[in-house]
Amino acid sequence: MNQAGVIWMNGEHVPYEDAKVHVLTHALHYGTGVFEGVRAYDTPRGTAIFRHQDHIERLFRSAGMYLMEIPYTREEIRAATHETIQRSGLKECYIRPLVFRGAGPMGLYPLDCPVEVAIAVWEWGSYLGEEGKQHGVRARVSSWRRLPNDVVIPAAKATGQYLNSVLAKIEADKAGYEEGILLDHRGMVCEGTGENLFVVKDGRIATPGFTSSILGGINRLSAIEIARDLGYEVVERDIARGELYLADEIFMTGTAAELTPLREIDDQPVGEGRPGPVTKEIQNVFEDALHGRAERYAHWLDVVPAPAPAP
Ligand SMILES: Cc1ncc(COP(=O)(O)O)c(C=O)c1O
Repeated sequence: MNQAGVIWMNGEHVPYEDAKVHVLTHALHYGTGVFEGVRAYDTPRGTAIFRHQDHIERLFRSAGMYLMEIPYTREEIRAATHETIQRSGLKECYIRPLVFRGAGPMGLYPLDCPVEVAIAVWEWGSYLGEEGKQHGVRARVSSWRRLPNDVVIPAAKATGQYLNSVLAKIEADKAGYEEGILLDHRGMVCEGTGENLFVVKDGRIATPGFTSSILGGINRLSAIEIARDLGYEVVERDIARGELYLADEIFMTGTAAELTPLREIDDQPVGEGRPGPVTKEIQNVFEDALHGRAERYAHWLDVVPAPAPAP
């Protein structure tokens, strides 16, 4: 965490130690916030934010689904993010925009509480580790189910909903696994605690769809597009738990974890117990896209302008 840096809060940059909220902040009590996880990479064109517009769009959609009106435009959020990165001096960083209900009338009705916005950036390596990205991680199916469509809105990236991922993450970690895979309310495969999941069998790729209560990952879309561009068939469909054990390859995608293969599921090797050829092929192109080495996907990058020279 860059404690020397600045955080954009409600329209202005404040020093790290001054980015504070009141203890009666509504979101602190009831989880009434939405957020994004975004990454910027050091590319040949300068620091560039991967699929920035898509993340901003999802932030506004998540807010809308919980009836929060963001008091800034998409362009203001984008410019504020650029400036926060410029001021941080970081060439690569993780970006966390957060929209939340601030202090106001207490109680479950949130609509009279102010909507506050913060954007922080910090240096953050891959969520499941560089080693995991290269050699694959060990995961277990969680005893916790992914929260379903008739309880909350899984398609919204809302703070309160993350208690679900937190439980699964703690369980996986305490049992000695790097990640937990949640099933949906029907018992079909859903996703990791912070990643979408893909199964490769006989050269064909499948991934759960929205009826499985997934969060619609932006990297999921990138992986689907890259895989199809490489000539693979990708289908969105229900995936039975047993298919995880029969899979030739499994990989996960997410902003934090990027593209990380699974080498073991429930103590059984996935395929040959190491990342397979399809995963590696997609991962290579994906990494090129993230780091601005793939002309075909150059439009996914939002280049952060160089800071204006001091007068
Ligand atoms: C629960 C969950 N699923 C999936 C994802 C992957 O989404 P994205 O690729 O947009 O980062 C994330 C991360 O944001 C997540 O938290």
